[in-house]
Amino acid sequence: MNQLGIGIAITGSGSATPDVAVDNYQLSQVVETSDEWITTRTGIRQRRLMDAQGCLSAIASQAAQNAIAMAGIKPTDLDLIILATSTPDDLFGTASNIQHQIGAPQAVAFDMTAACSGFIFGMVTAAQFIRTGVYSNVLLIGADILSRWVDWSDRGSCVLFGDGAGAIVMQANECDRLLGFELRSDGTLNKSLQLPYNAQVKEIVNGVTVSQGTYQPITMNGKEIYRFAVQKVPEVIEKALFRANLTSGEVDWLLLHQANQRILDAVAQRLKIGADKVISNLANYGNTSAASIPLALDEAVRQGKIQAGDTIASAGFGAGLTWGATIFQWGR
Ligand code: ACO
Repeated sequence: MNQLGIGIAITGSGSATPDVAVDNYQLSQVVETSDEWITTRTGIRQRRLMDAQGCLSAIASQAAQNAIAMAGIKPTDLDLIILATSTPDDLFGTASNIQHQIGAPQAVAFDMTAACSGFIFGMVTAAQFIRTGVYSNVLLIGADILSRWVDWSDRGSCVLFGDGAGAIVMQANECDRLLGFELRSDGTLNKSLQLPYNAQVKEIVNGVTVSQGTYQPITMNGKEIYRFAVQKVPEVIEKALFRANLTSGEVDWLLLHQANQRILDAVAQRLKIGADKVISNLANYGNTSAASIPLALDEAVRQGKIQAGDTIASAGFGAGLTWGATIFQWGR
């Protein structure tokens, strides 16, 4: 509990994914790969992909509405909406469009980007507004349509990603359920995973040039990201657990960014957390970037796996590079 006596509770979750599922056999018609390679190296069996007409705000709004319904509040009760995404419909921001679509006129809304760490960074950002007493009801959405930016000729990366959205409602509460966090960034490894802007020079008047480019597809050094995740994620969870005054033995669920089953297993092993406590749904969705943690959380809550009062250690990691962990208890 902070000095103002304002705690935080996570009172609702929701998710939404596109209808179209593409399995590993179908992908082997796109690039030279096989179900056997993808399954053994990553654990992924299929991913959902947004069709060409679809937009981020549609799945994000649906996830948001499901989370709001579970929390038992009305959209008009919301004070703040944060959309964690790297793939907005509009580079000026998509959160305001979601605010309009779900009917939350009182809420201030903005996008934030921290790639696959976006949801964890968003959770900590939302917590600051609640702890200072500024806002009481916050909607945090993690949503991405990475298929827009995947290089569909690169078998090293295109097999990993999928599209989806997840959301939670965070509320001011007497009891503080956000027990600890730790956030980190390291720009020296920025080039290991990028969705960079590609400038094209255009002269607008004599001697004055501007850049009129676009973003180029995702580039990734898979091995480097793998090594980074397996080393840094256990460290950041241990730091967050220390701040929460807990040990890994007291964790009920390990909820990691769903990038690769081998990363999930290695992190759990390093933290000495049993495989039965690891939340995993990446077989069905692949890596959905900022959506992966709330999507997995929502499924586990709705399946009755995660129960009120359970202690969850959650961590995101990805481009930037960025990584971070939160320790929280589900429910009021
Ligand atoms: N199908 C078949 N063969 C493949 C495929 C594929 N889809 N992709 C790569 N290969 C080949 C490679 O060409 C290589 O062949 P070679 O030995 O003849 O050169 C061989 O398989 C082994 O490749 P590696 O890169 O060594 O495979 P590795 O075991 O490292 O697995 C993987 C690759 C799955 C990408 C792994 O490194 C990984 O998961 N890294 C983390 C990636 C990640 O999580 N990124 C997202 C971060 S989150 C964010 O911010 C978006």
